[in-house]
Formats: sequence, C-alpha cells, structure tokens
Amino acid sequence: MTNVKRDGFGSRFGVLVAVAGSAVGLGNLWRFPYMVGTNGGAAFIILYLFFVVLLCLPIMFSEFIIGRRGEANAFGSIKKLAPKSGWLSIGVISVVTSVAILSFYSVVGGWTLEYIFKSFSPAFLSSDGSSLSSQFSNFSQSSFMPVVMHLLFLGISALIVVAGVKKGIERYSKILMPVLFFLVLLLAIRSLTLEGSGAGVEFLFKPDFSKITGQTALAALGQAFFSLSLGMGCIITYGSYVNKKENLFKISFMSAFADTGFAILAGLAVVPAVFAFGISPSEGPSLVFITLPQVFAQLPFGQIIASAFFFILLIAALTSSISLLEVIVAFCTEELKWSRLNSVLITFIVVGVFGSLSSLSQGILSHVTLFGKTFFDLFDYTSSNILLPVGGLLVVTFVGWRMERSNVLDELTSGGTISLKPILFKAIMFIIKYLSPIAILLVLVHSLL
Ligand code: PHE
Repeated sequence: MTNVKRDGFGSRFGVLVAVAGSAVGLGNLWRFPYMVGTNGGAAFIILYLFFVVLLCLPIMFSEFIIGRRGEANAFGSIKKLAPKSGWLSIGVISVVTSVAILSFYSVVGGWTLEYIFKSFSPAFLSSDGSSLSSQFSNFSQSSFMPVVMHLLFLGISALIVVAGVKKGIERYSKILMPVLFFLVLLLAIRSLTLEGSGAGVEFLFKPDFSKITGQTALAALGQAFFSLSLGMGCIITYGSYVNKKENLFKISFMSAFADTGFAILAGLAVVPAVFAFGISPSEGPSLVFITLPQVFAQLPFGQIIASAFFFILLIAALTSSISLLEVIVAFCTEELKWSRLNSVLITFIVVGVFGSLSSLSQGILSHVTLFGKTFFDLFDYTSSNILLPVGGLLVVTFVGWRMERSNVLDELTSGGTISLKPILFKAIMFIIKYLSPIAILLVLVHSLL
C-alpha cells in the first residue's frame, strides 16, 4: 500500500460545513419552491421527505463509504475497490453529470449575480408584480448580459477552485449560512402573514395524492438527489477527505437534516407569497426572482435585506458550484494527470459553451429543442431526473453487492470504534442491497409508463 498522505478535513465541523455547503444552494432556494409549485404542492413534499429518508440517507452513507475506503476521486475510488470493472462507469457518469449540472447551475448563479446589482436600485422594490415579472423575462431572455453573468459566476467558481481558497470560503460560509437561514426564516414569517397567504399554506400542507403521477414521483426523487448533491460522486470525493475515525452516520444525518430544513423553509418563504400576490405557482424557474422581491418590499429595510439575501444566496451557490467543479477537476488531475490549472481551464471552456447555450435557450435559441426540451431544460431534466438517480442506483448496488461486507462494516463503525448492533447492520445492508435499488428502479420505470 502506498502511503501518500492526502489532504483531509481537520474536524467534524469542517466536513459538515463542506458537505452542507455543497448541499445547500440554489437547489433549496431556487429549485425546490418552483418544483413544489409545478408538481402539485403538499403531495410532492411528502414524497420528497420520504425519498430523503428512504433513499438519500443510504446513498449518502454509501458514497461516504466508497470515498473513505477508496481515498480518491469517484473514478479513482472505484478503480481501487473494483479494478477494471464496469463499475468504473460510476466515475464516468459523475464527470458527465457535473458538466451537465454546471451548464444550467451557473446560468442561475449568473441571474443571482444580476439580482444583487438590481437590488441596489431603489426602483427595484417599488415595482409591482407584473413589472417584476417582465423585468425578469426581459433580462433572462436577452442574449448578452445573462451570458456575461453566467461566465462571471463560473469564472469566480473556477478561480476559487484553482487558487485553492476553498478554506477561506468555508470559513466565511460558517458565518454566512446561519445568517442566510435567519433571513429565509424572516421571509417565511413575512410571507406567512401576508393577506391571502392561506391558500399557499393549504397548497403546502394539504396533500392531494391524486396529483401524484410517475413524473411527479421522478421529479421528487430527482430534486432530493439534486438538493443533497447525491448520485454524482460529490460525496465520494468529499468522503475521501474524511478522517478514518469520523462517524459517517452522524455527518450524513446532520447534512441531510440541515439541507431539508433549508428547503422546507424556502418553500414557506416563497409559496404563501406566490398565492398572496396572485402569481401562478407553476410559473417555473423565474418563481423566486419575481416573488421574493415583493416580499422584500413588505419588510422594513427591505432593500438592505434584498441585497443581503441575493449576496448570501450567491455564496451558497458558489459553495455548491465549487463542489461540482471539484468532481471534474479531481478526475482530470488524478486520473488524466493534467495540471490543476489546465483542468480548471478546460472545464471552464466546456461549461462556458454549454452554459451559454442554455442561457440563450431562454431567448433567441428557445426554438432549438431536443426531445422537446430547450438546452436549459435538457441539462436540468437529464441530470436531475436521469443521471443522478442512475448514479445513485449504481452506488448503492456497488456497496450492497460488490464491496466486501466486512469493509462496509469497517467503514460504518469507523474501524470498530463505533458500536453498531448486528441487527442494525443487517437492516442497513438490507436497505442498501434491496430496498433502495428497487425503489429507484420502480420510480424510473414508472415514470416511463
Ligand atoms: N446540492 C446543490 C444545491 O442544492 C447542487 C449540487 C448538486 C451540488 C449536485 C453538487 C452536486 O444547490
């Protein structure tokens, strides 16, 4: 065995901040509310929570186990645990998925940047609903600025990854994430006390199960994977930096809990306001950008709160986009032996081009479609609803069926330092071997029917 010492996280808090930093992002604040809105509300949320507990937690342990055992990027870890096998496809899928996600994520990151600037103008909060909505569509459908903002967002992420200042970012996000939480809490309270928000509360909490179709179930599954950064090697990569003594259960539970809490709170901040202002909940990706400014306008110091909100949202988006970039860069440097600078540069160019296409597909390229979807929708749909579930399926199947049982036990008990009742281990293995893969398959197959 070689004895190369890899960089690692110093403390449990460090791992948590990095994993939660990757998990909490645009997925919670931008994507979750609009997914809830387009997929029927409460029933979607219940399915989402069910998937987080039943599928996401086991997949999160599984990714941590692979990464900490394999001590490398997703591809490298699998290569070490199952050399020259078809399982290496997990590594390949993770790189493809990261590129696909970044190709729309950085466009929305660019919108967030633009909204930081917009929020400084006093006219911003005095605009009414319809002018906010046309402001957003005029901006996002134009060709120049959104592309520039997308490249700027991607460029900042690339600089952070190349300069290795992630530690600095993590230090700030320890402070900023709790601030973001309180801001969203404040927005939720305001939104829930708006006149006419009752219908929104009902939409969020009164499930109408007749609204659940194969497509909604798949959307809830995809959203859960997306929000927890699962199924694409991110947690495998981070797992490789986790100390051998660390309790993988605890980290997984705490990250999943924090991420889900953020998502629900974002739903409470956005959806009641959507109803109070007479916006359609199925408005789609623009939902947060046209709803929240109206809530800000209802708060004292609304303008300051708006600027702070979009700024911190940007930081949350950056801690996620650097984890996506890291998956690609770790693969290029460790497997292809490219330099870090070249790896980042090439990724920047590739995602820069794809991302520009998805940005333009909001406007002048909106007529260019593949399988009936624009570039933006295609990247979003394929990554969340196909690639992530397939990646997650492969990960649990790998840990359940291919890895030595004793190695899995060793990782789950951190080398025997944590006690785990045999019956509990059996139950976990049963979930990982049978329950999780079958459930993912069922949702995937059902959505095709
Ligand atoms: N979880 C992130 C978010 O919710 C997005 C992400 C997905 C990050 C997959 C890494 C991997 O914003």
